[in-house]
Amino acid sequence: MKPRKIKDGIYWVGAVDWDRRLFDDLIPLPDGTSYNAYLIQGSDKTALIDTVEPEMSDILLNRLKQLDVERIDYVIANHAEQDHSGTLPQILAQHPQAQVVCTPKCKNMLVDLELVPEDRFLTVDDGETLSLGDRTLEFIHAPWVHWPETMLTYLQEDKILFSCDFLGSHLASTELYAKDEGLVYEAAKRYYAEIMMPFSKMIKKNLEKVQEHEITLIAPSHGPIYDRPEFIMEAYHDWVFSEPKNIVVLPYISMHGSTRVMVEHLVDALIENGVTVKLFNLSVTDIGELAISLVDAATIVIGSPTVLGGAHPKVVYAAYLANALRPKTKFVSIVGSYGWGGIMVKQLAGMIPNLDVEILDPVVIKGHPKAEDFKALDKLAAAIAEKHKNLE
Ligand code: FEO
Repeated sequence: MKPRKIKDGIYWVGAVDWDRRLFDDLIPLPDGTSYNAYLIQGSDKTALIDTVEPEMSDILLNRLKQLDVERIDYVIANHAEQDHSGTLPQILAQHPQAQVVCTPKCKNMLVDLELVPEDRFLTVDDGETLSLGDRTLEFIHAPWVHWPETMLTYLQEDKILFSCDFLGSHLASTELYAKDEGLVYEAAKRYYAEIMMPFSKMIKKNLEKVQEHEITLIAPSHGPIYDRPEFIMEAYHDWVFSEPKNIVVLPYISMHGSTRVMVEHLVDALIENGVTVKLFNLSVTDIGELAISLVDAATIVIGSPTVLGGAHPKVVYAAYLANALRPKTKFVSIVGSYGWGGIMVKQLAGMIPNLDVEILDPVVIKGHPKAEDFKALDKLAAAIAEKHKNLE
């Protein structure tokens, strides 16, 4: 429960949530998470950057007590979401002189979400600075990483970027810094896929904005601190800017085996054509793993039987998710089997308007696949390989 010193006058005072397994009752967190808060002591003023989940308030308050923090002048609210703002009311009650520093949009949200009185705020413009005496905070508005009100805070003299959710990872760890980069890479990629990828156009702009600053540490609001900032910046550049890779993501359901036989044949045909396949049986898949695979894939092939005239509900959910996550995928196709009819292809194709994709000829057949159906799958595999021929 002790605070962690980053350097003289700068401490991590957050909370590690080892047990959390779901965020927003939606996103799987197989590795738990942390809610990072940071205390910055200047020669004249003291600032707290973000707070923690309301269930973990005592941990933050206890760490501040151990540092004998008698006065907090500013609480920097980079983001209004409750995992960072949830302990704001307690901090403001303990420090009646403290002002909440945030964007004008964030002020409105904190009034609504945390019932913070309007007279407790100091709103800041993009690029505005705030002196703590011998230390200076600079505020960088960064909308849509991943809410519209978000900002980042740059500590000028120490060259530390407090990046809020941006560049973070859901990873519970005793390591303050991202020492095991392989482990952190996987967690950060999952985080990007699930939370940031729908806003990749805004992420591009915010990456460029951040690069105007010299940075020695990136301290996000979830997961370890990056003491090698180029590690996470290069990873984001790959995920956001690079062309998709020679990969097919194939989420599927099979009720009586016909679709599974088709999927297995297609996988073999794709392998023979030099295409990597990531296969997800949606009955057992961690939806986060599917999201991660969408970051790089050039093609999605959806496999489904027909149920009550349409695609299987688990496939409908996967299509909805892919559309919401807006990956940089370029091609989509559909394979599957029906008993007596249905509108599965029209239904699924209509569910992905956010994806800028070419639809490759679907292979949807009656009953168990036959010789001509396997030939159609071979043709689809060859068409995908041809489309991928210039990709890594
Ligand atoms: Fe970690 Fe968007 O809150």
